[in-house]
Amino acid sequence: MDTFGRYLQDLPDCREGKENDGGVSVTTAAWPGRTRSAYVARAAEYISLLGSVGQMNPLDACLLGEWSDTLVGPVLDAGSGPGHWTDFLRSRGCVAHGVDAVPQFVESARERFPLTSFEVGDLLELPFVDARFGGVLAWYSVIHMNPEESASALAEFARVTTDDGHLLMGAFLGPDGHPFDHAVTTAYCRSEQGLTTQIEAAGFHVLSTHTRTSREHRPHLAVIARKRPPGQKVT
Ligand SMILES: C[S@@+](CC[C@H](N)C(=O)[O-])C[C@H]1O[C@@H](n2cnc3c(N)ncnc32)[C@H](O)[C@@H]1O
Repeated sequence: MDTFGRYLQDLPDCREGKENDGGVSVTTAAWPGRTRSAYVARAAEYISLLGSVGQMNPLDACLLGEWSDTLVGPVLDAGSGPGHWTDFLRSRGCVAHGVDAVPQFVESARERFPLTSFEVGDLLELPFVDARFGGVLAWYSVIHMNPEESASALAEFARVTTDDGHLLMGAFLGPDGHPFDHAVTTAYCRSEQGLTTQIEAAGFHVLSTHTRTSREHRPHLAVIARKRPPGQKVT
C-alpha cells in the first residue's frame, strides 16, 4: 500500500516529462465514485500526516497568507480536506468556509477547527448562490480531475466568485493532463500554460503563477487570478 510519505517524496514520471506507461489506471469519471471512496478510506491517515499548516511548506503559508490579505468578502476553501488551510484563512482575518465531499474530513475539521465553518458538498455543483465569495481557494482539490472535468469545477468557482473576486489554485506541475499514480488515486499534472488558459477561459484573469521544484516533493504550481468583469474579453 502506498504511504503518504511516498505521496510527499516520490518524484513522479511527469517531473521529467516522461510518458506514463507504468500501469496507471486512469479514472475518467473522477467524481463521484473512486476519488471519494479513496479519500474516505484514508481520511484518518491523511488528517494525521497532512492535516496541519505546520506540516505544510512554509512558502505555501506565505502565499496563501498574502493572497488572503487581498480578499474582500468571505472566502471558500473548495475541497478543504482536513480543513487546516480553511482555518488558516480564518486566522488571517477572513470569514472562511470549507466544503468537501468527504464527510469524515468535514466532521474532523468541525471538531478540530470549531471557529471555522465546514460543510459537505460537491465542487462540480457547489451548494452556494452566485457571487457569494470574494475568494476561492482550490488547493490541490481538482488534482484528481482530468482537464475536462476541472474545467467544470472552474466554471463553478467562477459562478460563486464576486465580479472582482480572486482565485488561488494549487496543482502538481507537469505535462498538462498527464496522469500519474498518486498515493490516494490517479491524479493529473497541469502545465503553467494549460492551467492558465483554462482559468482564463472560465472567466478569470491570471495575475501570477508560482512554480517550485525540489528533490523531495513533486513539482508544484500555484496560480492566482482575478475574476474578469462581465463583458471584458480574454486578453
Ligand atoms: C489532495 S486533497 C487536498 C485537500 C486540501 N485542499 C489540502 O490542501 O490539504 C483533495 C481534496 O479535494 C476533495 N475533492 C475532490 N474532488 C471533489 C469534489 N468534486 N467535490 C468536493 N470535494 C472534492 C477531496 O475530498 C479531498 O479532500
